Amino acid sequence: MNREGEEKGEGTAPAKPSWEEIQKYGQRIRVCKNGPYQVFGGIPLSVQRIVLDKDGFSSEWREEEKFPVQDQYILCRCGRSGTRPFCDGIHKEIFFMGTEHASREPYISQSKEYAGPDLVLTDAEILCSVAKFCERAGGIWKLTLESANKEAREIAIREAAACPSGRLVVWDKMTQTPIEPKFEPSIGLVEYPPGRFERPGLGQGRHPHHLR
Ligand code: SF4
Ligand code: FES
Repeated sequence: MNREGEEKGEGTAPAKPSWEEIQKYGQRIRVCKNGPYQVFGGIPLSVQRIVLDKDGFSSEWREEEKFPVQDQYILCRCGRSGTRPFCDGIHKEIFFMGTEHASREPYISQSKEYAGPDLVLTDAEILCSVAKFCERAGGIWKLTLESANKEAREIAIREAAACPSGRLVVWDKMTQTPIEPKFEPSIGLVEYPPGRFERPGLGQGRHPHHLR
């Protein structure tokens, strides 16, 4: 996410980008100071729901609703808009303080390594968003340790690919390259199953935090 606009905006309605800005930056997200996310470049927006398997584990993503593609739009960051996921300006009336931001420490230095025979798993636990794709079939850590088994290896790769937080990456042990699917840029509003939230700040409902 591009946070370069954080010093601008001051929680007011975001300024329309100039043609030069769009040309220069293309698709991008600006975090307005104490205000919304400003999205440029026609990035697709849709609702994504987590599908559970018969045992109650998260197993796949299902796209449920696509919003009409707009060249630019503003997403609520304060959580109080009456027109969510879009910003309606209420952040100014409630004096929203949007100062929290992610660590800039590189992923690798935040993560622990688990080495199996065919796969290596890197795990930066601090990034977890509790979507729980990693718990199926004994869990991704056990699957990594059993990755000489073709089925265990494939499930571990699928679990890391579905993880929305960026916490988990599986690497091919021989080539030392990450095994990651290619995604077109998009924003997903995540619908979590009831009772899934265990962390403050992540209430049930639609959260624009699944960015690919
Ligand atoms: S690590 Fe990823 S898949 Fe596992 S619970 Fe956290 S967000 Fe979900
Ligand atoms: S950020 Fe504007 S209403 Fe929430």
